[in-house]
Amino acid sequence: MADSLTNTPEVQKLLTRVAGLDQPGGDERLKRVVHRVATDLCQIVEEFDVTPTEFWTAVSYVTRLGQANEVGLLVPGLGIETFLDLMMDEKERRAGLQGGTPRTIEGPLYITDAPLEKGEARLDQDPEQGEVLFVDGQVRDPDGKPVSGAIVDVWHANTKGGYSFFDPSQSPYNLRRRIETDAEGRYRFRSILPSGYGCPPNGMTQQLLTALGRHGNRPAHIHFFVEAPGFRKLTTQINISDDPYLHDDFAFATREGLIPELVRHTDPAEIKARGLNEPFATITFDFELHREAANLPEAVVVRDHAKAA
Ligand SMILES: [Fe+2]
Repeated sequence: MADSLTNTPEVQKLLTRVAGLDQPGGDERLKRVVHRVATDLCQIVEEFDVTPTEFWTAVSYVTRLGQANEVGLLVPGLGIETFLDLMMDEKERRAGLQGGTPRTIEGPLYITDAPLEKGEARLDQDPEQGEVLFVDGQVRDPDGKPVSGAIVDVWHANTKGGYSFFDPSQSPYNLRRRIETDAEGRYRFRSILPSGYGCPPNGMTQQLLTALGRHGNRPAHIHFFVEAPGFRKLTTQINISDDPYLHDDFAFATREGLIPELVRHTDPAEIKARGLNEPFATITFDFELHREAANLPEAVVVRDHAKAA
């Protein structure tokens, strides 16, 4: 855009001053990033002939998005959280890493310090009418050997699509546990089948999605962090395979390798053997962790997390 307003000496000088590039202090990398952001904003305003009213509408939107605490919801909706995953995948590939359980987005609904249990746990501490789900699996190293003492930190929504802590109708840490793998690297838990959920229908995220002609639904899923000394932290989710939104997730988190088979059990003998009165479901999902190495990008993502009181 050689003849653009943004490229005139006057605006270029303005942008240099905006980013502090004419000043000795501050953070050089941040200056370059801010310069780029401000320049791109000017170019967008110019290219799309954004009117002042449109611009201030956008400012108001961002303000209200923050006030509603929905920034962490819009970010995956715009695909940015998935792009960060793809960036990390690419860096690992270039560093020679292959295989392993795929990562996918964390989302905004993790809270720290869920109860820690050894080998197995029951997640559904609140009474709720739902399909009983048993999940089990093994954490393994790249050679297929079990990793004992790994921490499988699991969290998921209830049958209404709500997460404890964020949903005040649930008790603290309902459907959230940390499970330490046993001597064979195994973990198992009993819970209820989560349902999918959508963005708050009258919220700011949904407002933008609607304007884009998009829905704000997520397929049912279960979140995991898997950590063990000497291994790279894995952030991932598994999907409930029969969800209609399985491949139409507004947050773009569904990935090949993260869709285990959901097995439904209706045989009365099996039901009785589990101590149940109704059919139940099972999922088996194994995790393969990468070994940590000095040449790899940092796998632990530092971000604000809530903590239940
Ligand atoms: Fe989720």
